[in-house]
Amino acid sequence: MIKARPFLKWAGGKRQLLNELEANFPPHILETKEIDLYIEPFVGGGALFFYLLSNYSVKKSIINDINQDLMLTYKVIKLFPEELIKRLEVIQTEYLKLNTEKRKEYFYNKLREPYNKLKINYKKKDKKSWVEKSALLIAINKTCFNGLYRQNSKGEFNVPVGRYKNPKILDEENLRNVSKLLQNTNILCSSYDTIGIPDDKKAFIYFDPPYRPLSITSSFTKYSKGDFDDNDQKELAKYFRKLDKDSHYLLLSNSNPKSTNLKDDFFEKLYKGFSINTVLAKRYINSKSNGRGEISELLIKNY
Ligand SMILES: C[S@@+](CC[C@H](N)C(=O)[O-])C[C@H]1O[C@@H](n2cnc3c(N)ncnc32)[C@H](O)[C@@H]1O
Repeated sequence: MIKARPFLKWAGGKRQLLNELEANFPPHILETKEIDLYIEPFVGGGALFFYLLSNYSVKKSIINDINQDLMLTYKVIKLFPEELIKRLEVIQTEYLKLNTEKRKEYFYNKLREPYNKLKINYKKKDKKSWVEKSALLIAINKTCFNGLYRQNSKGEFNVPVGRYKNPKILDEENLRNVSKLLQNTNILCSSYDTIGIPDDKKAFIYFDPPYRPLSITSSFTKYSKGDFDDNDQKELAKYFRKLDKDSHYLLLSNSNPKSTNLKDDFFEKLYKGFSINTVLAKRYINSKSNGRGEISELLIKNY
């Protein structure tokens, strides 16, 4: 089996929660290690997606995220891996030979600004501009502060330079493996509720929406233009109930509001009637260093 890992660091990445997630898979999937159709509507860096494709036999998969450049990069890795690798090789060679001060200039002038300026037609395939945008996204992700993705109100990526001695901007082997694994994957970019989930087939669907912040300052949920607020969480719960009627296998993770307020039963109310488990996870990307460490999260499922 081909093995691959996420090619980007992404806020809310589920690497630390993989064991707990797997323990909560539908029993027939755990037994057969086969999945006919896997769907991930908020795929982000895709920690669980890559784990599944590397360890289970997944016939068909659909991944989606609202972040256009993220999904463009998945497409470029699927379609043009060698062109992307060539471009990242150049960036990596140029970057690594510079001292700290020059690296900083390179980050702002040769990576972040060109990334923000490069306009893309996401609908019309254009190898050159697509490869360039994706290479810049991967390079800024590997060299920026904490691997965060954050935009200002104009939609510009605005995370400052990070301090890594020897960042691995190019991981050739992983990119080639990701590309192979993506060949049976449909890559979409829209809001989760408009992706058109088939109702004639039973799918295994994992939802990893932006976390509901535990307090105003302690969490980071702004991934792209627009926030995911309590109203969005409620809409998502309605959508979850709708899919439940279509007999899909549904698994969803979110933050546990009880970590900071024992009386907060927001999710118990929203997902009444479904199974809700509490699990412990390590969170690494957070805007506050005291936000690191073990934190409890909720796993909600309909089976
Ligand atoms: C918690 S992250 C997913 C983390 C991911 N599962 C991982 O392991 O790295 C949530 C994702 O939801 C995306 N998102 C936010 N609002 C969305 C929407 N309405 N529809 C689809 N995706 C959305 C964000 O761009 C972000 O990548």
